[in-house]
Amino acid sequence: MNLTVNSKSHAIDVEPEMPLLWVLRDELRLTGTKFGCGIAQCGACTVHVDGNAVRSCVTPVGAVSGAVTTVEGLGTPAALHAVQAAWVEHQVAQCGYCQSGQIMSAAALLQHNPAPSDADIDAAMSGNLCRCGAYPRIRAAIHDAATRTRGA
Ligand code: FES
Ligand code: FES
Repeated sequence: MNLTVNSKSHAIDVEPEMPLLWVLRDELRLTGTKFGCGIAQCGACTVHVDGNAVRSCVTPVGAVSGAVTTVEGLGTPAALHAVQAAWVEHQVAQCGYCQSGQIMSAAALLQHNPAPSDADIDAAMSGNLCRCGAYPRIRAAIHDAATRTRGA
């Protein structure tokens, strides 16, 4: 089957039941997307499919019909996505393990809601757990990224 990831088409030879997470990590070596729980409870494995946040640990690759974006494809070191730039500015990461999932959820939120309230952020991010408790910095960085995106 063919899978488009970060704007590149890949021919992959796997069972359609294989979770997208393992295709990304083991077949395509895109290890920015993390395994946390494997049961859709933590958000560490969040990627985008056609711009929507999806939990790749419970998404069979055969069910993916759109273009996949991982944290590796969100921005580049020379041109960070607004969320990534705000993350750096606010030094959000502590251990870092949850962070790619947090960033992908935040980017999807801003795509659908360019000016989220605190309540909107909390609702959109509630499925992304951070054992280091970086939640206040995550919220601040999302507000900052929203401002950067709007050019305000
Ligand atoms: S690893 Fe997918 S939600 Fe936890
Ligand atoms: S930064 Fe450590 S789990 Fe979130």
